[in-house]
Amino acid sequence: MTVAATADTLAFEPPAPIPRNTPPSRLEVIRTLFRNPLELWGEPSYSEPVIQAKFFGQLTTIVNHPGLIRHVLVDNAANYGMQPVRQLVLRPILRDGLLTAEGDTWKRSRKAMAPVFTPRHARGFANQMLEQSMKFADGMQGSAKAGAEVNVSQEMTELTFAILAETLFSGEIVRTAGNFAEHVDKLLHTMGRIDPMDLLQAPSFVPRVTRWAGQRPLNHFRRIVAETMEQRRPRIADCTAPRDFLTLLLELEGPDGLTREEIEDNILTFIGAGHETTARSLAWTLYLLAEAPHFRAQVEAEVDRVVTSGADPVEWLELLPHTRAAFEEAMRLYPPAPNLGRAPLKDDVWTDENGRRYEMPEGEAVLVMPWVLHRHKLYWDKPRQFVPERFLPGNREKIGRFQYLPFGAGPRICIGATFALQEAVIALAVLLNRFRFETTINTKPWPVQRLTVQPLAGLPLRVSERQDRRS
Ligand code: HEM
Repeated sequence: MTVAATADTLAFEPPAPIPRNTPPSRLEVIRTLFRNPLELWGEPSYSEPVIQAKFFGQLTTIVNHPGLIRHVLVDNAANYGMQPVRQLVLRPILRDGLLTAEGDTWKRSRKAMAPVFTPRHARGFANQMLEQSMKFADGMQGSAKAGAEVNVSQEMTELTFAILAETLFSGEIVRTAGNFAEHVDKLLHTMGRIDPMDLLQAPSFVPRVTRWAGQRPLNHFRRIVAETMEQRRPRIADCTAPRDFLTLLLELEGPDGLTREEIEDNILTFIGAGHETTARSLAWTLYLLAEAPHFRAQVEAEVDRVVTSGADPVEWLELLPHTRAAFEEAMRLYPPAPNLGRAPLKDDVWTDENGRRYEMPEGEAVLVMPWVLHRHKLYWDKPRQFVPERFLPGNREKIGRFQYLPFGAGPRICIGATFALQEAVIALAVLLNRFRFETTINTKPWPVQRLTVQPLAGLPLRVSERQDRRS
């Protein structure tokens, strides 16, 4: 097992819950899961390779051992379904979208949509990503001139939504009055939470108080999606529609493809999964760099060189290793998807290198948790500190495939991983070339787990124009 080497001595420790030393009571578990599941995990979760314990009558296996992670997510993935509690939270929102579909529906949908997200195809989005990032930066210029404080968490949601809307939907997602990104935030905040009733495994007809408040924004979204589909259909019929993801999806409708409802579910899924995750990591990256001026200076030098060189943005991911390293380290410390929950479809057993057998019975919970895995003492040097150097070429190769899982692994690996990485590096390059982000007395981010790991009460940073940039 590898411990990633680091050369850095100036690392700082960004905010995160201190691992618990004593197990919480049943009531405390319910309260904490509702308030912030990240605060639940005890010291052993961050130091043991595998933990098995009963949790609300269910045997729960917390998997940190790279061999067992590989077994669950890759080698024996066919025997693992999505964890029922995750489905209870997400399915009312996303129904049969790719993230929540299972079995044959998932297989058909994944195969149909995969061509849009191959690395080669994703590279084709680079110019649109650059254009949208520059447009967004123009909009931020006023705040920067005034040296104003901005909530980068909210701002990044706007930016990644603009990129998603342009690249996958050719800017044709129907916009209604009001702030679209705010609606997304509200939906995810209210509906994307574990309800105490889920934990107690109450049947699905028992109402979940946490979901009521999300029903209105959800209906709002469903209306937007239906209108977007209706506007596009006639243009497909008369061959004037852009050849984008939306057209591809709508053309899949039919007995051998997807149903109308599945198409609607996927539009909603890609709007939901395709921008909020990247936005969170971008905001955390800006914050972490604001706290690490020594590394920020290296990133700035690098982006100044590349942005002004006229290099094709398709190449930026390779040309900006410091920028990418900062983003990857942000996803290590604050993985947008902190928990990959599974349940065996049939009894399973796995034996470690010392001959110890772990039984994982059908239907019980098996959790691979990037949140604890990425801060695990066995696999990381300075696990709680911001050390982006570990992701620079030369060090990056020493990080094991199954110790760093921001995008998951195996057949259910994030379909948008290349898209997200390219988007993030281009957006960061444009923003950090023009602006400097600094902490203020109001910058006190606290990570909470909703659908993603996000800063409680936002992430205010001061933005100013860079006086020292090379342009
Ligand atoms: C930093 C950004 C992102 C992160 C960290 C992330 C993370 C993840 C993870 C961990 C999974 C696997 C979940 C599991 O195994 O239970 C996943 C699945 C998925 N992601 Fe992402 N994601 C990101 C960006 C995107 C983008 C940009 C898109 C689309 C444009 C996207 C669409 C999806 C979809 C549709 C799935 C379900 C795939 C399947 O089950 O076949 N994600 N994502």
